[in-house]
Amino acid sequence: MAEEIHIPTGSKQEKYVSLFPQLEALVAGEPDAIANMANIASVLKEAFGFFWVGFYRVRGDQLVLGPFQGPVACTRIAYGRGVCGTAWKEERTIVVPDVDKFPGHIACSSLSRSEIVVPVASGGTVIAVLDIDSDQFNTFDEIDSFYLEQICGILA
Ligand code: SME
Repeated sequence: MAEEIHIPTGSKQEKYVSLFPQLEALVAGEPDAIANMANIASVLKEAFGFFWVGFYRVRGDQLVLGPFQGPVACTRIAYGRGVCGTAWKEERTIVVPDVDKFPGHIACSSLSRSEIVVPVASGGTVIAVLDIDSDQFNTFDEIDSFYLEQICGILA
């Protein structure tokens, strides 16, 4: 049976604080990573109205598009390429205030203006990345980094 998620209002931080335990509960009963990525993408899109929210999964030497919410996106990204491939290679969260200023940014949509990519690690290895795009500049900051890293940690 589907869980009821309460989509919060308030500040960005208040929303993350409300969503985190709900996402933990949602994921706790389901071992399938793709199902959990799909629900996390849905909740983040609904709660924040981001332009694009989705996961790319590590498949060999590439990232392959996984569960997402938003417009059609690039399906494959090489290791070290774009914001996603760089976050994978460097095993760290990358916040991009203006995508035009990130060397090698891959523009899946010309409407994307800022972006955050958070690695999903399991057993010390990056298995996926969470990618969120905004159609506004400067959308993401350390609050997003902090809570999105916690959320990605649930998937481990
Ligand atoms: N902009 C990303 C590509 C993925 S799309 O934004 C959905 C990148 O540079 O890796």
